[in-house]
Amino acid sequence: MKFPNQLYLKLQNRIKNNSLRLLKKPLQLIDFSSNDYLGFCQSETIFNQTHVYLTTNNIKSNGSTGSRLLSGNHDLYGIVEKKLASIHQVPAALVFNSGYDANLGLLSCILVRHDIILYDKLTHASIRDGMQLASAKSIAFAHNDLSHLESKLKKYDTENRKHEIYVITESIFSMDGDSPDLVKMVELCQQYNARLIVDEAHALGVFHLGLLQKLNLHKKVFARVMTFGKGLGCHGAAILGSDDLIRFLVNFSRPFIYTTALSPHALATILKAYEHLLALTHHRLQDNIGYFKTSCQTLNLQTLFIDSDSAIQSCVISQNKRVKSIADQLQRNHFDVKAILSPTVAQGQERLRFCIHSFNSTNEIKGVLTLLKDILLSDPEK
Ligand SMILES: Cc1ncc(COP(=O)(O)O)c(C=O)c1O
Repeated sequence: MKFPNQLYLKLQNRIKNNSLRLLKKPLQLIDFSSNDYLGFCQSETIFNQTHVYLTTNNIKSNGSTGSRLLSGNHDLYGIVEKKLASIHQVPAALVFNSGYDANLGLLSCILVRHDIILYDKLTHASIRDGMQLASAKSIAFAHNDLSHLESKLKKYDTENRKHEIYVITESIFSMDGDSPDLVKMVELCQQYNARLIVDEAHALGVFHLGLLQKLNLHKKVFARVMTFGKGLGCHGAAILGSDDLIRFLVNFSRPFIYTTALSPHALATILKAYEHLLALTHHRLQDNIGYFKTSCQTLNLQTLFIDSDSAIQSCVISQNKRVKSIADQLQRNHFDVKAILSPTVAQGQERLRFCIHSFNSTNEIKGVLTLLKDILLSDPEK
């Protein structure tokens, strides 16, 4: 059967723009690309402790057998959610199958007609998709621009207003690695009676229990989204909030209701990954981020990088073709650095996205940046 012509043309267009996405085998190279910031994914301790936990508790099922509202609500869910609520100092937590599902599940059901949601222009696709499923009006504010946010809050905080205003942001942006001024943002939301939602996907683990807890702001937000596939090296996500919010999600969040629940193994891994995180007394991640940034300065590369104190350090090199070619050269020299192409980021903002890990050595960091400098110096299009 012939493939539909319109779809074929869309693929052809991707090829023409150098933006065709391909599934490639993981590269066995020096990791500057995965979200396994603390090396938890490779931790034999977490793996073995999960195994021991499951076997000593005689938990032997391979899957969960159904939705949590039917047959899939394994005992471990209660244990994990109670633990999450206690660790993150919040009344309640609800586990979702992924961060994508959590954002979709939250935004698609809490926003009702006439509500307003103000979102940072660079928020993740899962947030945008969630807003699209809702019937509320979604309005972007310029990236991390709190004056712009305030002008929108002023506009929509009308007298005798009946609608809710929500504000959504990420504590660490997935592509830029930067952060909003969360203290000011919380203040603004309080001033204009708006409810703040923060996605902490790239902050959990990197900044211990997330940036909101670090800044002691966690009790001032409507909801937090924690994802476990990045700093915790496993799988799944949780929404943290009030008892009412969690009860509402259980009743109305379609990505929560209409899906097979996580396996007991996935839940036990979340439990053990958290225990591991809480027991960590020291790791080299913050030192490595600092070393990466000073090396950029020494090599005079810092103007190419988006200012960030997180594990995500992005070097903007415009044009898909050019950034892909530089990433290829780094990979040929054993460094796994990925190019982020448009349309994933805006045209002209294509970039090399370096993910820094606790397990990267200073030699690796120096090596990859020195090579980048050499490539850029010999680049005819520089
Ligand atoms: C900011 C942000 N939120 C949510 C997600 C989705 O999380 P998950 O990978 O668990 O679906 C991601 C992952 O790419 C992300 O970067």
